[in-house]
Amino acid sequence: MSSETRQQLNRREFLSFLSLGWITFTAACAGLASLAFRFSYPNVNFEPEMDFLAGRPEDYEEGVDERWKNGYGVWVYKNEGKLVALSNICTHLGCIPTWLPAELKFKCPCHGSGYYPNGINFEGPAPRPLERYNVSLTPEGLIKVDKTKIYRYEKGQWELPGSFLDV
Ligand code: FES
Repeated sequence: MSSETRQQLNRREFLSFLSLGWITFTAACAGLASLAFRFSYPNVNFEPEMDFLAGRPEDYEEGVDERWKNGYGVWVYKNEGKLVALSNICTHLGCIPTWLPAELKFKCPCHGSGYYPNGINFEGPAPRPLERYNVSLTPEGLIKVDKTKIYRYEKGQWELPGSFLDV
């Protein structure tokens, strides 16, 4: 084999290695890009449910119940034969108040607004009471909370059917 032929082979080998390297690099980049795209969209829907079943009225004691606060952003308040679903969003600037059972009030940590257990505001900058969500009973006797329907005290909507349950 002449040295020219050996040089040509080397060049050919070099070019095929270069092509192989380029294809491998491109495939790796495409794989990484598809992984990055895939992880941009989670498998799980983190949007909170807009309606849910909250058990039976007899499952609740009198007073504020926090079992749906973290998952659904709702306090259930049962008092003197009425049950309501209160939004846990402060009507000042949207922080999440804390229920203080010893003081019988919701207290917002952001600017100090306070609400009675029924959701009426009484201290701090909150301009209006907490909102209520629609509550109804299913044919099976379960409480259904529907967060797409909101009732505001200042608009007289707390008297409307659906803003409370007689229990
Ligand atoms: S957001 Fe609750 S007091 Fe300001």
